[in-house]
Amino acid sequence: MAIANQYGYYTEDNREFVITDPRTPRPWFNYMWNSQYAGLISHTGGGFSFLESPRDNRISRMRYNCLPWDRPGRYVMVKDVASGQYWSLSWSPTIHLNYDFYECRHGQGYTKITTEINGIRGEITYFVPNDVNAEVWRVKLTDVSGTARDLEIYSFVELLMGNALNDQINQPNDKHFTDIHFDCDLQALVATRRYWVLNKGVSVKQPNIDWKYQVYFSQSLPVSGFDSSLDTFIGRWRSESNPLAVETGVMQNTEITAGDPVVALQSKISLGANSSVDFAVTLKIAAKEIPPTPLAKRGKENSPPFTRGAGGELNRETKIGKDAGELLEIVDRQFLQLKQKWDQHLSCVQVQTPDPAFNAMINVWNQYQAAVTFDMARNSGYYHGGLLFGTGMRDRFQDILGVVMVDPARVRERLIKALNFQFKDGSTLHNYFVLTNTGERTNHSDTPLWIPFGIVEYLKETGDFSILEEVVPYHDDTSGTVYEHLVRALDFAIANTGEKGMPRIFTGDWNDTLDHVGSQGKGETTWGAFFLGYVLNKSLPVCEHQGDSQSLAKFQKFYEHLRQVTNDICWDGEWYLRAFRDNGEPIGVSSASQGKIFLNAQSWAVISELAPKDRADRCMASSREYLTTPFGMKIVDPSFTEIDDTVGLISRCVPGKKENGAVFNHASSWFVLASLLNGDTEFAWEIYRRMMPINSSQATDAKCDRFETEPYVYPEYVTSPDHETQGQASHSWLTGTAVWMLRIGIDYILGFQPTFEGMIIDPKIPAEWSGFKAQRQFRGKVLSLTVTNHSDVKQMLVNGEVVTGKLIDLAKYVGDEIAIAVHL
Ligand code: GLC
Repeated sequence: MAIANQYGYYTEDNREFVITDPRTPRPWFNYMWNSQYAGLISHTGGGFSFLESPRDNRISRMRYNCLPWDRPGRYVMVKDVASGQYWSLSWSPTIHLNYDFYECRHGQGYTKITTEINGIRGEITYFVPNDVNAEVWRVKLTDVSGTARDLEIYSFVELLMGNALNDQINQPNDKHFTDIHFDCDLQALVATRRYWVLNKGVSVKQPNIDWKYQVYFSQSLPVSGFDSSLDTFIGRWRSESNPLAVETGVMQNTEITAGDPVVALQSKISLGANSSVDFAVTLKIAAKEIPPTPLAKRGKENSPPFTRGAGGELNRETKIGKDAGELLEIVDRQFLQLKQKWDQHLSCVQVQTPDPAFNAMINVWNQYQAAVTFDMARNSGYYHGGLLFGTGMRDRFQDILGVVMVDPARVRERLIKALNFQFKDGSTLHNYFVLTNTGERTNHSDTPLWIPFGIVEYLKETGDFSILEEVVPYHDDTSGTVYEHLVRALDFAIANTGEKGMPRIFTGDWNDTLDHVGSQGKGETTWGAFFLGYVLNKSLPVCEHQGDSQSLAKFQKFYEHLRQVTNDICWDGEWYLRAFRDNGEPIGVSSASQGKIFLNAQSWAVISELAPKDRADRCMASSREYLTTPFGMKIVDPSFTEIDDTVGLISRCVPGKKENGAVFNHASSWFVLASLLNGDTEFAWEIYRRMMPINSSQATDAKCDRFETEPYVYPEYVTSPDHETQGQASHSWLTGTAVWMLRIGIDYILGFQPTFEGMIIDPKIPAEWSGFKAQRQFRGKVLSLTVTNHSDVKQMLVNGEVVTGKLIDLAKYVGDEIAIAVHL
């Protein structure tokens, strides 16, 4: 049975989410991208594209804070010449019309929208090919009215070209540098900008450098008209929903050397009764090959007037455009290659369990979301405008968890690149921008520690210790091996512990909104102590491997020191307190009037193995008692209702939202992990199950209309019952939740735990499951696991032989596949 809600459903194989009603509570997005070109695409054709950096090098526009929602986008409009009616193939922006059929299929790296209206079925598939810096809109139009039709086709997209932040604040000036002309040979509009703001801040000082790209917009039908000016194409006092040119059928053939840029092409076709036409629209970006034509030579007198060819195409002299059929073949091949890429990606982990939503998430959507976060960081989405953040160091070193099993080589490269943003003292920039090589140093106390965290995860997956010998420059001076980078991060954290012996929190720890706890540099973080303990402990085998007995001893000793101090001074009686303020007063204690219990301090007491068993049990029970909601675990309770400037921004957030008492999924996932580690499989599964977006969006009192965000990806948070909008989610797609839910699902529920020595198999499944089957690739082998629950004899068999222990040492087995049977 298909998993569904009132707006759509997952296909049988879970590879697509099909939206059947376009009036979703929010635009529901997807991504299409390769290693350089990337775009967001909504279920109504909205979204924007960029090359490498959504702030510094945006290609097309999307307007934030704007009504109507989700504009502009990548639109193909069709006009029926006989009736004068026109409509969009992606529903928006002609949403006022009555469509006979609408369907949007979001798949991996592509989105296909099908509509039917006025006797025309339109199918449009948007995707980015694996190896070309372009996006393709593949279109098929079919007459379903049974009569021959004369149609006009208009494809258009509004361009930005360059720095999107500058565009927000200086667009009236920026528009004087745009330059678009129609290239008859290519039958394409060629667009560029004559300057580029590519510096670390957008400032009054204008840089005098060239935007080094050209954008090519073409359509594989004979072009009968074009426009590159928003003014003339859309027309004054109009919008995308009723462009003047589409209404009149007259394209002005405007080429701009300044003005608001759009690329719009018109084609005219005759469609036989019940017949179809196929074509492709492409938006491509490439380096400027030749300097742009000097403006002096671009006057009308230097451009011969257009003539029309036999097919109605525009000519100035001769046309040597690519054969349309050939282009479609290329495009279809590219689409196939994209599908193959994702088949391969997803084949790394495949599971069949009794829970259909879990299968849909692990087999497809969670893996896919994790791949998106790996490439988009927290930097380009509907809720993440791509103007501010660049790539976060903390996020980068967690996001690798989602793809390291699929593509360790890319992870290796990314880790090494990111280490460039670490300083020689072991501290780091908090975030960075790839094109400008800059970022901000914010002094979040946890950020450097994610470096060893990520490296350890990479090593456990790959066993590739050679990465530790790579030499990587520090951001300020000198270079060090990857191992030295790791050690320095840990040394820095140890050196920055305070009077009580725990990490000073400075600007915040993982929780950005605890920003005033330690503004004077004295406040200390309990969560940070557990996290430091965890990372130290996990790094010990690496020090051992490197023969670095000095660091090994130091880190071991500090780990034990943290056990001592956290248990001496952070236990509040029923749970661990969260932090100490600059003045030494604790936060997250039962005697407080707000913010009594924080989830992360409990989860990480367990995850770090620093809590003795009785306290682990007690703090998990307290979390259950105070923090459980229908959507997952609240991050803190009670939410702050009064501003407390000795704690921070958390107390300014609305109670029940964001870090102030929402179900913050990232933190909620850590609780699931802690519960599993602490032996509470049933409750862990219950929370995991509630958090899965299709379930969260169906929770009794919060149907999908409340949840609002996409039911196929995790949002950053869901509003808790502390707010009247409980059940409302926000910040979908780009959240650390994705990798943690994925890895908790695979590593701890299904039980594939990579270690330095091999794979530990240790499933922890709910009693209601009779068992499951799963395949997981690991270091070049396929591990096929069959688990049966409630067995009389509890044992593990590998290739048919009973084994003791839980470790699979790959070296012991020949052959590409290892069959593992676990009887629980
Ligand atoms: C947001 C940030 C993340 C931070 C979290 C908690 O999700 O992207 O880096 O850890 O909030 O404050």
